[in-house]
Amino acid sequence: MSDQKKSKGLEEAPLMQKITSLCKRRGFIFQSSEIYGGLKSAYDYGPLGVELKRNIMAQWWKSMVHERDDIVGLDASIIMSPKVWQASGHVSGFSDPLVDCKTCKTRFRADKAPVVEVGSEVEYRASGKTIKGVAAKPYVCPECGSPDLSDERDFNLLFTTNLGPVKNEDSTCYLRPETAQAMFVNFLNVQSTYRMKPPFGIAQQGKSFRNEITVEHFIFRSCEFEQMEMEFFTPPEEARAWLDYWKDERFNWYVNLGCKKEHLRLRAHEDDELAHYADGCYDIEYLYPWGWDELEGIANRTDYDLRKHQEASKKKLTYFDPQKINPETGKPGHHYLPYVIEPAAGATRAVLMFLLDAYEEEPPSEGRKEGRVVLRLHPKLAPIKVAVMPLVKKDDWLTGTAQDIIKTFRKNSVNAFYDEKDAIGRRYARQDEAGTPFCITVDGQTKEDGTVTLRYRDDMRQERIKIEDALSIVNAKLLE
Ligand code: GAP
Repeated sequence: MSDQKKSKGLEEAPLMQKITSLCKRRGFIFQSSEIYGGLKSAYDYGPLGVELKRNIMAQWWKSMVHERDDIVGLDASIIMSPKVWQASGHVSGFSDPLVDCKTCKTRFRADKAPVVEVGSEVEYRASGKTIKGVAAKPYVCPECGSPDLSDERDFNLLFTTNLGPVKNEDSTCYLRPETAQAMFVNFLNVQSTYRMKPPFGIAQQGKSFRNEITVEHFIFRSCEFEQMEMEFFTPPEEARAWLDYWKDERFNWYVNLGCKKEHLRLRAHEDDELAHYADGCYDIEYLYPWGWDELEGIANRTDYDLRKHQEASKKKLTYFDPQKINPETGKPGHHYLPYVIEPAAGATRAVLMFLLDAYEEEPPSEGRKEGRVVLRLHPKLAPIKVAVMPLVKKDDWLTGTAQDIIKTFRKNSVNAFYDEKDAIGRRYARQDEAGTPFCITVDGQTKEDGTVTLRYRDDMRQERIKIEDALSIVNAKLLE
């Protein structure tokens, strides 16, 4: 790991502050309901943010669904029968251990609190004074350090609502806390209507909701977020090999979209970390400013979910393979519950990761008096692909030609942006901060020879190209 990477890990506050302020300044992400003082843990994606998020999700869909024969898509409702969440175990068991600090009244997750030795002496701050205390529990308050804590209790993360006009226990519904369960309950619908044979997958993207106790690090952990999940149904004996396959596929997906390899790692779960139903799990972790933390999980969920839904719904969810040998009869023809390999990614978390990874400050250099902030987003993810600018706005020929070039890009589904305000250097700087990989400038020479300036974001190199080549040059870079 280079020194730069190491120091990145140490500079949490400044880098996160810089990203948050860039997001607000340039219209990537705003605090929800800001004019009313903001709503904690909810965020709105502005003009650039919505493009970035959609591009990430489109790339995931392309690689998971469009480029494969063995995976199909699904878009299920967010509100499902409460029986789904009873069977899956979420109603009874989807909870975090919650503790109250009796000193500063902070409520926090026990498993996220600083760890101390029981019986050790700890110092903490209360009413402006430093106080000494003895730790009676293996952790202290993350806010003030006090060991004076309530007992742990389970706090269920499901958001409840009521379906229909009557508000009672029977009308209670839940906002989905993950997109995954819809794939399990639709397993046979999709399999039979689309004639899929295991191994095959169902992919889904969309909003999920969790009443998180600890919301942290901007959009990293929020109560409303978006997921990109795929459930890959496989014969049980192939499950381990597919887990191996998917962990590499998913790791490489991030790398191919420009994420620096040295900022990513695959971490196998220890046995005591594994969910009770899982037979193997990997986290793809990213080196965030606060250290290594989860980006995506890839788990072998065995046949746990299908079995639970089969038991609760009393509907057979087995797959019949006419060729497979039935171990009991020794003859072809076997009904079995497939195992499931699940790569579960966060789309909004990926937005944060790609922003952090792409952010760079360049100091002034020879020939350039001012430094710059540049988002080195992969062109496929960049919200704006190309900015087209007339060198001066008072020349109708220049503005008209720039508008014509823009039209060509738009007709070909390349998101292009027209900008004629301010000096050209400031316009370039704005596009660098937005992550726009290419700028095209129409100037006096264009009138003479039909060429324009193509400026590259990453090295600020400029070259003259013919107007009629602009689309193919930009398109070629987008496909690289
Ligand atoms: N179906 C399995 C599942 O939902 P998870 O690890 O709880 O697994 C998968 O979630 C991914 O969803 C995480 O790796 C993370 O990227 C994202 N995610 C989970 N909770 C989140 C939250 N509160 N805010 C933002 N992203 C979250």
